[in-house]
Amino acid sequence: MNYDVIIVGAGIAGLHAAMHLPKNLSCLVLCKDQPWECNTFYAQGGVATAVDENDIAFHIKDTLEAGATLCDKDAVEVMSSDSIGVIRDLISKGLKFDRENSGELKYTKEGAHTRSRILHAEGDGTGRVIHSFLIAELKHTLFKNALVTDLLIDENRCYGVSVVTKKGEYNLYANNIILASGGIGSIYEYHTNAHTISGEIHGMAIEHGLSMQDMEFVQFHPTVYVQNSWARKLLLSEALRGEGAYIVDSKNRRFLFDYDKRGELAPRDIISRSIFDYKHKSKEEIYLSFEPFEQSFLKKRFPNIYRNLTSIGFDIPKDKIPISPAFHYSMGGIKTDLDGKVDGMKNLYAIGEVASTRVHGANRLASNSLLEGLVFSRRAARRILEDNYTLKQKNFQICQAQLYKEQDKVLKETLRSIMWKHVGVARDIFGLQSALGGVEVMLQTDIGRMFKLRLLTSAEVIKSAISRKESLGSHYIKKIEI
Ligand code: SIN
Repeated sequence: MNYDVIIVGAGIAGLHAAMHLPKNLSCLVLCKDQPWECNTFYAQGGVATAVDENDIAFHIKDTLEAGATLCDKDAVEVMSSDSIGVIRDLISKGLKFDRENSGELKYTKEGAHTRSRILHAEGDGTGRVIHSFLIAELKHTLFKNALVTDLLIDENRCYGVSVVTKKGEYNLYANNIILASGGIGSIYEYHTNAHTISGEIHGMAIEHGLSMQDMEFVQFHPTVYVQNSWARKLLLSEALRGEGAYIVDSKNRRFLFDYDKRGELAPRDIISRSIFDYKHKSKEEIYLSFEPFEQSFLKKRFPNIYRNLTSIGFDIPKDKIPISPAFHYSMGGIKTDLDGKVDGMKNLYAIGEVASTRVHGANRLASNSLLEGLVFSRRAARRILEDNYTLKQKNFQICQAQLYKEQDKVLKETLRSIMWKHVGVARDIFGLQSALGGVEVMLQTDIGRMFKLRLLTSAEVIKSAISRKESLGSHYIKKIEI
């Protein structure tokens, strides 16, 4: 089957790219599970945007500062300058963000933003509202339950993908391929990601020798309830802190000010590290306190979080919620230019979390991820239309490898625990080397292809972490206690 464009992934980046590809192109969106099983759907806080032309410089400054010197300034400028246009375009197409009684857009604040500039929808339902909107607007074909098992790459061209669907295994070919498959959450024991997000496409990129960048920079969200039994842990949005919730120890002390004068609104890497350090030293549980809120406010502004916590048995705002940092976002990925074109490739694009433009540097500013997905997907779609690239098609063998093997399930748990323990918030060289050893041993055993891809991605994260000797942003090397 031949298409003009194949998009791998149906989160914000993939669906928004599809929105900007005209109906007369044959465009296919592939989605590994049900379309809503993506990180976009679960995003709570919102979408950061420059509020107006005057705010662009400040949004850029905040993004660069949070990114701890590693951001690509051009990428940040592009993202912030384009933010007003992409948001206006979505609103004009009918997307409904929350508004003040006056009808003005309602903005909230999150960590390391110097002003309120986060748009949200149905309170903490931002991701779900945006995702449902993009699905409703989709004018191209979407295959759900379509597992991509390989990228058909030869030299500097990508000819298509191998997939498995209910119809069996086959190849799909296209003139342009867009990877919008999200991040790597499932390689960590504690994470906030959809269960589909497992770094498999990253693994294929590594196998094919594509350039990977900044994989050591992994963001841990500071306020996650990790004691639930699901794989996806319960995110307690940073917007809660933006609206006044705070972090305390068991004696109700707001200890974060010992670490940074911005307290609960410092950048995420600083807060996660501070919680990790304080917990380690004090051996105490750490909590998110909702004390400043009325119950009626919580129910209206954070309806999903309210429902989730009360269904577990918490009585909020009275109860404090025990929290821990958990894996949330991967800043690194497949290296691309500012139109999402993969380094060295003629017709392969990567957008959203799977990509690395260095727009987030070493630590992503809160709520810049949905924005990144919107901005770079539109740029990629425009570039595809502009380049009008056509391939002389070529046939590839269908991927023959056995996808799953018996011991994958057990080893997956081992991997997740290794990554959490040794490649987490605070790292040291011995832990990283032992993690790499563990991953390399697993790679030698009798495993299925899909687990092998996760291992390749994990090895890349660890090797990048080993190569970066100094702490920077989310990559923190702890002092070894002798
Ligand atoms: C959150 O709601 O705290 C997550 C937003 C983000 O990942 O930027």
